[in-house]
Amino acid sequence: MDQLDAAGLGERRERLVARARGRVLEIGAGTGRNLPFYRHVAEVVALEPDAAMTKRLQLRVEQASVPVTVVQSTIAQARLAPHSFDTIVCSLVLCSVEDVDATLRHVDDLLADGGHVLALEHVRGTGWRARMQDASTPVWRHVAAGCRANRDPIDALRRNGFAITDCDRFMMNRTFPIVAPHISAVAVRKGTRQLQGDTNE
Ligand SMILES: C[S@@+](CC[C@H](N)C(=O)[O-])C[C@H]1O[C@@H](n2cnc3c(N)ncnc32)[C@H](O)[C@@H]1O
Repeated sequence: MDQLDAAGLGERRERLVARARGRVLEIGAGTGRNLPFYRHVAEVVALEPDAAMTKRLQLRVEQASVPVTVVQSTIAQARLAPHSFDTIVCSLVLCSVEDVDATLRHVDDLLADGGHVLALEHVRGTGWRARMQDASTPVWRHVAAGCRANRDPIDALRRNGFAITDCDRFMMNRTFPIVAPHISAVAVRKGTRQLQGDTNE
């Protein structure tokens, strides 16, 4: 991840997370690589189910310039008030959750009216790459902590009631080809007025 962040992913994190506002929930915060980039937000609740990751996440809390509360939990098990977050950040996590539709239903429950989802994810490619992703995901999952390289988080957001208001597709070349295509996207509940400055994909 150090190499990927140095090769441009860190800059992508910074640009996307800068769009967070209000009360923020980050699901699957890992070791907290996004934490230094939160600026003008009221609070970040960082969820992470893995005990070892949570320990490292706690260490990065000190690098944040905003209040951060770490909660060791999956999104399904977290006891959080419905509709209480203005921004929900999914960063390289929708590939890892067991049930992406259930996860996005929880996201929908937790998102406040007018809130937005910020997603930085690797995605399903097209053509030969998609075929390679389909063929290698069963093995890849076992070596990469449950990661499904062939998921399409944009499609998952759309089928779970979100509209994509901004989506930048890019390639990360200093990684395995099956996880090279990425998106950086903003989503809102369908029917929500577009955020200023956002454009349709
Ligand atoms: C690849 S890491 C990404 C970490 C971090 N978000 C980043 O951008 O570097 C995926 C993380 O999602 C967490 N995770 C897996 N399933 C989860 C769930 N159901 N709810 C919340 N987090 C989950 C894993 O423990 C892991 O730390």
